[in-house]
Amino acid sequence: MTKIGIIIGSTRPGRNGEAVARWTYDIAKKRNDAEYELVDLADFNLPIYDEPIPPAMGQPYSKPHTKAWSEKIASFDGYVFVTPEYNHATSGALKNALDFLFQEWNNKAAGFVGYGSLGGSRAVENLRLILGELMIADVRAQVALSLRDDFENYSVFKPQPHQEATVGTMLDQVVAWSGALQSLRK
Ligand SMILES: Cc1cc2nc3c(=O)[nH]c(=O)nc-3n(C[C@H](O)[C@H](O)[C@H](O)COP(=O)(O)O)c2cc1C
Repeated sequence: MTKIGIIIGSTRPGRNGEAVARWTYDIAKKRNDAEYELVDLADFNLPIYDEPIPPAMGQPYSKPHTKAWSEKIASFDGYVFVTPEYNHATSGALKNALDFLFQEWNNKAAGFVGYGSLGGSRAVENLRLILGELMIADVRAQVALSLRDDFENYSVFKPQPHQEATVGTMLDQVVAWSGALQSLRK
């Protein structure tokens, strides 16, 4: 069965990202079209990129944290990136985690759940540019959660009811493309 990793893109203590990712995961796991798993960047304790050989030049990796991250990411057919917006881009933690690997990301699909003052839209645009280089096919639908309208006091996550349908559309597209790209990786 197609496997989709829902990646929490913030590692900040007190982050909003965890509630957003859990909400996304709760919606996803009601579906029966794929296996969904929450992946918390904070669990991997990745330092600032520290491999001597660029990942696009291939393995072996020299560090246990790289090997653990590689094994987890390689196990999926597609991803949902739950991203905050930091200074009009994705988080440094997520960019760093993307930089660590290459082949593990290639020829897979991804969708986005962004959050920020403008729904994290600039962070998602930034991610789309990065994913092109990693050969990840990014779907059109994206979830844009507003800190003002989908959170109370910018910190208690209370998504507006219409947001759930957008998660569904985004997942439809991620699952379809993740399945289609499997044949390319064989
Ligand atoms: C360093 C930093 C920079 C930020 N820059 C932006 C920004 O450019 N645009 C925006 O909409 N929100 C910005 N914010 C607000 C974040 O989107 C908001 O705090 C969000 O909850 C961060 O995600 P997190 O709580 O999961 O870490 C910024 C927050 C931080 C900590």
